[in-house]
Amino acid sequence: MVLERLRQDGRVAIVTGGAKGVGLGIASVLAEAGASVVIMSRTQADIDNAIVRLDAFGGQSLGVVGDVTKFEDNERLVQQALETFGRVDILVNNAGGALPVPFEQISTQQFHDDFHFNVVQAFQLTQLVVPHMRETGDGSIINISSLAARYGADDMLTYSVTKAGLEQMTRVCAQEFAPEIRVNCIALGMTMTDALEGYISTVEGALANVLPQIPLNRIGNVEDVGLAALYLCSAGCYVTGKVIDIDGGILRSVRLGG
Ligand SMILES: NC(=O)c1ccc[n+]([C@@H]2O[C@H](COP(=O)([O-])OP(=O)(O)OC[C@H]3O[C@@H](n4cnc5c(N)ncnc54)[C@H](O)[C@@H]3O)[C@@H](O)[C@H]2O)c1
Repeated sequence: MVLERLRQDGRVAIVTGGAKGVGLGIASVLAEAGASVVIMSRTQADIDNAIVRLDAFGGQSLGVVGDVTKFEDNERLVQQALETFGRVDILVNNAGGALPVPFEQISTQQFHDDFHFNVVQAFQLTQLVVPHMRETGDGSIINISSLAARYGADDMLTYSVTKAGLEQMTRVCAQEFAPEIRVNCIALGMTMTDALEGYISTVEGALANVLPQIPLNRIGNVEDVGLAALYLCSAGCYVTGKVIDIDGGILRSVRLGG
C-alpha cells in the first residue's frame, strides 16, 4: 500500500502565510491528507476564511495572527502549535517576497529587510521547530523559493538574491539535520493566486505573452505546489537538500506582459 505513505494522519504542519495563495494551497493538500494544520498570517479575516476551508477536510486546524518578520510572533506560533497539538512534524516556510525596485534605488535597509523576510525568519522558525522534530526523530521542512533565485528578474535583485540564500540554507540544513529531518525547497514558476489572476485579467495580452514560454502551456496552480509538498512530506521520502522546480518546464524566467 505505497500510497499510504502520503497520508498525514496524526501529523502536525505549520504553514506560514497559509491563509491565502500558495500557502493556503499547501495547507489544503496537507489537511486533505489528514494533517492538523497551523497557519500564520497577518490578517484575522483571511485566517477565518482559510480555517473554514481547512476544517472542511474533516480535521482540525489552527490560525495564528502574526508577522513572520517578528521573532516573538514566530515563537508564539510554534508554542501555540505545541500547546494545541503536542507536536510539530512539518514546517512550510512559505511567506516571503519583495517588491520590484530598480537597482539604483535599492537602499541598504531595503536589502536587509528583504533578507530578513525571505531568509532570516525561515531560519528562526527552523531553529524553533528542529528540537521538537529531533525528539520525535522525524520531520520535514519545506522552503518556498522562486525561479527568480536562479534566473533573476527585472528590478528584483533583492528577491532573487535572498531566495537564492533560502535555497542554499535548504542544502546546508539538510546536511545538518539528516537523517531524522529532511529539508527541501520548492521553487515556483508563475503560480495562479488572486494577485496574479487580477493582473492577468486586467493587462491585455499578458497570458498570451507568457504561455509560449511554458512548455506545459498553462500557469501553475496552488494544488500543483501542494502535491509537490505532500510528496516531500511522505513517510520515508528519499529526498533531502534539493530544490524542486514546479514551473511547467520553464527553462528561464518568464516576464509578465513582456
Ligand atoms: N505566486 C507566484 O507566482 C510565486 C512565484 C514564485 C514564488 N512565489 C513564492 O511563494 C510564496 C507565497 O507567495 P503568494 O503569491 O502565495 O503570496 P501572497 O502575497 O499571496 O501571500 C500569501 C500569504 O502570506 C501572508 N503574508 C505575507 N507577509 C506575511 C508576513 N510578514 N507574516 C505572515 N504572513 C504573511 C499574506 O497575508 C497571505 O496570506 C512566497 O514565498 C513567494 O515568494 C510565488
